[in-house]
Amino acid sequence: MSTLLGSCDVMDAVDALEFRYESLPDLTGQTAVITGCSSGLGAATALELARKGARVLCLGRKEEKTRDVIGQITNETGNNKLEFIHCDLLSLASVQAAAETVLSKNVPVNMLILNAGVIGSPTEMQRSQDGIEVTWATNHLSHFLLTILLIPLLERSIGQGAPTRVVSVSSISQSMTGYREGIRFDAYDDAAEYKFLHRYAETKLANILMSRELQRRVEEKYGAGVPFYSNSCHPGIVNTAMGEDHVRPWLKNVVSGVKRIFMTTPNQGAKSIVYLAASSDVQTLNLRGKFYIDRARPSRPGDLCPAASDMDLAKRLWEWSFDVVRGKGVKV
Ligand SMILES: NC(=O)c1ccc[n+]([C@@H]2O[C@H](COP(=O)([O-])OP(=O)(O)OC[C@H]3O[C@@H](n4cnc5c(N)ncnc54)[C@H](OP(=O)(O)O)[C@@H]3O)[C@@H](O)[C@H]2O)c1
Repeated sequence: MSTLLGSCDVMDAVDALEFRYESLPDLTGQTAVITGCSSGLGAATALELARKGARVLCLGRKEEKTRDVIGQITNETGNNKLEFIHCDLLSLASVQAAAETVLSKNVPVNMLILNAGVIGSPTEMQRSQDGIEVTWATNHLSHFLLTILLIPLLERSIGQGAPTRVVSVSSISQSMTGYREGIRFDAYDDAAEYKFLHRYAETKLANILMSRELQRRVEEKYGAGVPFYSNSCHPGIVNTAMGEDHVRPWLKNVVSGVKRIFMTTPNQGAKSIVYLAASSDVQTLNLRGKFYIDRARPSRPGDLCPAASDMDLAKRLWEWSFDVVRGKGVKV
């Protein structure tokens, strides 16, 4: 499984985390939907959920690459309940089609893991098929649309009294948007204002805010005791393919050597994601709208920027996201 889990000489030796994958409950009969399973953290997450018997719907844009990962997971775990569903987050139509496919399965979704993500081009702003800036399209707006469309299946899970979890994979870089107000909605699509790391940070802040607003809205509808747990996390600094497209070819070997030594592995990085998706602690500790960091530890005061706790901003993000996707012709 080394291709999926990666390896990291230093971090392997210092894995002092209390949470262990072995402590997860049996997940047989539960369904997880994950974006970005073709590599890195998504693949490691799918593996651990599959190991515990979950059915895993793997949403991805590269069929062969994702099916290879599914094959490796099935070989390792014996779980053959993993399915590929085509979903290119750079196309709102593709997200709608993927959601339709998931809806057609007619099963409650117990875990929704919004994991796929990109760092945009360092040199020039690029746009999705709908004309949306790539980082916003991939990291937030498509995940927002997917979540809205899958709400009926999340509600089916809630209706059965099952603990229903949504995990938004954010980043500690949420504090580096460059804007005191957190997100500059009026500049999200402005090429003149484009700074790739600021855009990445804004979308990662959006992941946290959306996670919290989703929790608030579900509680508003069903009451505070609803068995619904929407949380977000920073997985650590993890040796994955993230940002590799932007490394110059002559530097790739050096960069990959440095990453191998100093970064944690996808298997370690996925701990926060898997913990929030499947650990029974989520219910017993009543984790709602929380942010977890590195290998499944709760964030401390100071880990998050003030904007990440601004529920007015969260509400505005939600409404703005609706406006943007509707403005692109999506009927939601
Ligand atoms: N690695 C870190 O240190 C780190 C730190 C903080 C947060 N994160 C977050 O962790 C998440 C997972 O990233 P990773 O580190 O595992 O990186 P990764 O190995 O590059 O994985 C990214 C995943 O997103 C998918 N993806 C990208 N664009 C897509 C699109 N248009 N449609 C569908 N899928 C798309 C990729 O699929 P393809 O194979 O098709 O490209 C891949 O499966 C991201 O949200 C990232 O922001 C990572």
